[in-house]
Amino acid sequence: MRVHHRITSSTNDRARELAASGAPHLALVTAREQTAGRGREGRTWAGSPGDSLLMSLVLRRYDALLPLRAGLAVAGLAGPQALVKWPNDVLIEGRKVAGILVEARPQDGWAVLGIGVNVRATTGLPEELDAASLGRDDVEEALAELLDHLHERLEQPAHDAIADLRERDALLGRTVRWATGEGTGAGITDEGGLLVRTAAGDEVVLAGEVHLG
Ligand code: BTN
Repeated sequence: MRVHHRITSSTNDRARELAASGAPHLALVTAREQTAGRGREGRTWAGSPGDSLLMSLVLRRYDALLPLRAGLAVAGLAGPQALVKWPNDVLIEGRKVAGILVEARPQDGWAVLGIGVNVRATTGLPEELDAASLGRDDVEEALAELLDHLHERLEQPAHDAIADLRERDALLGRTVRWATGEGTGAGITDEGGLLVRTAAGDEVVLAGEVHLG
């Protein structure tokens, strides 16, 4: 099932409504334009109409690795050079090409996976976003490829997904900062956490968001 909007506030809003009214696993919402695209940590998500892939998927089966699986799927679309900045920003040459927002209601048995990918050249995006694009023309074609990657990643054994993520870890060896500390990216744990080594030699496992130092 797919619902496409020419313009809507946020595909995540529409998918949440669908999920709440009983839509099946993998029900898909897409839009050409969003007027209130949301990012993580209260950020907004902007893009010029028609240039980005805007989608939200209703999931009735998912695990704790969902955000990481989604990052891997988008990295697969973006190509072998794309890295994942844990938990799931996808970077090409250090610049963000996609954002992922998971909104889950475990008590109701569903999650909405929202993904925005800059498909066409990123004219019109604010310079400070430091964004990249796939540099492709056809948003629908990119969507079809992304869905293939997603279906594969959602079913992949956790151990293999983590191993693949380690191959694309943008933070390995990089200085990272989080709310209460600073350290160097030291890999991804078997549970999908970010391992960081501090200057004092301690190893810390992070579960939230970090910033590149
Ligand atoms: C982030 O990088 O902070 C996450 C951005 C997520 C943006 C996508 S665009 C499609 C879906 N609808 C939204 O309102 N947000 C997600």
